Amino acid sequence: MKTALITGITGQDGSFLAEFLLSKGYEVHGTIRRSSVDFRERIAHFEGTPNFHLHYADLGDSMSIIQVLNKVRPTEIYNLAAQSHVQVSFDSPEFTADVDATGVLRILEGVRQCGLAQTCRIYQASTSELYGKVEEVPQNENTPFHPYSPYAVAKLYGYWIVKEYREAYNMYCCSGILFNHESERRGETFVTRKITLAAARIAQDKQDKLFLGNMDSLRDWGYAKDYVECMWLILQQEKPEDFVIATGVQHSVREFTELAFRYAGIELEFKGKGMDEKGYDKATGRCLVEVSEDFYRPTDVVNLWGDPSKARTKLGWNPNTTSFEELVKIMVEHDMAKVAVERESERVRTNLAAYLEKGIVK
Ligand code: NAP
Ligand code: GDD
Repeated sequence: MKTALITGITGQDGSFLAEFLLSKGYEVHGTIRRSSVDFRERIAHFEGTPNFHLHYADLGDSMSIIQVLNKVRPTEIYNLAAQSHVQVSFDSPEFTADVDATGVLRILEGVRQCGLAQTCRIYQASTSELYGKVEEVPQNENTPFHPYSPYAVAKLYGYWIVKEYREAYNMYCCSGILFNHESERRGETFVTRKITLAAARIAQDKQDKLFLGNMDSLRDWGYAKDYVECMWLILQQEKPEDFVIATGVQHSVREFTELAFRYAGIELEFKGKGMDEKGYDKATGRCLVEVSEDFYRPTDVVNLWGDPSKARTKLGWNPNTTSFEELVKIMVEHDMAKVAVERESERVRTNLAAYLEKGIVK
């Protein structure tokens, strides 16, 4: 039985990857961080699964990493843990560098010091943010990097240190340069999930308006569930290599917003330009989308578009299993149901409070 260690198992990708590896018969170990509140919603369904184990470790703490490596002695490591929010990296640049850059070094060096260098394969969660202020479109494995945020600069160190350990110590370690991938489990402050949740709430009268930043920004959005398969495929190749993973299809934030609202039953019409742009409900004329300066970044990456040819040819991976339209639909349907459940439990709570007040329920 193969043994995988996933750092960042509580995140969007970690939870899908754990499901995928368990279905392949792996023993899956994941690292979690201590928190005063329990935010393990994405992995709660694994509770009691025989081949599933959790350990405390933090990418900022070498000792915790070495302890887990010695205990688990994995055959594959998927290093997904990161401060993954680009805008947050402008507010917490030092923390981001420690986890997203030095954290990768801690994993690689830990593997060496635990005597696993020749038996353990390592996947590093790299990113299309490396292309940043893009120098060509679409971007492939040979496109020059120009990182454009503290997050991207930290991830660039991660990319190069992986390459260095591969060349210096002959270790099997690779970077997957993944373009944006989303899902119904996406964190609620990333733009796609922020939009699908807002569309669902506005459609069910739980929110008045959605405020966004740069709606002209272009992304190559895929479905996270399809992308975790690539992480695994990258570690099953004969030789360690880096791969771009993307759909090869590009859309703007505005297009994502229009489609999400359409699936929630609202046709939007955009009027105005830049900061004055607004999205109106065609049926009622109500303004539902506005632009806010708060969501603009000091430097923003605005033209990501991946070329997945190498992954298609060498990994045999189909980049178009889930289309853009299907992805938006999956997310909106999920959030419409989530909001409906929240509304219903709120209604029950309100009714109960009223009954208690009137003395109907003792
Ligand atoms: P995510 O949902 O934000 O999950 C990040 C995970 O990292 C969480 O489990 C988080 O744990 C953990 N983490 C954060 N800081 C840590 C620390 N100091 N020590 C240990 N664990 C820590 O991110 P994701 O979307 O699943 O992305 C997974 C990885 O792929 C990240 O490295 C991200 O940068 C990279 N990536 C993502 C995309 C994308 O579009 N999703 C594209 C390219 C690359 P808590 O739950 O405790 O916070
Ligand atoms: N978050 C957010 N919120 N972004 C907005 C908003 C808003 O209200 N309005 C416009 N945007 C724009 C951002 O300026 C950016 O250009 C784009 O929408 C996407 O933003 P995010 O969804 O936050 O993702 P990201 O592309 O910055 O980063 C994600 O993808 C990277 C891969 O390219 C993260 O998952 C990173 O971890 C990942 O590496």
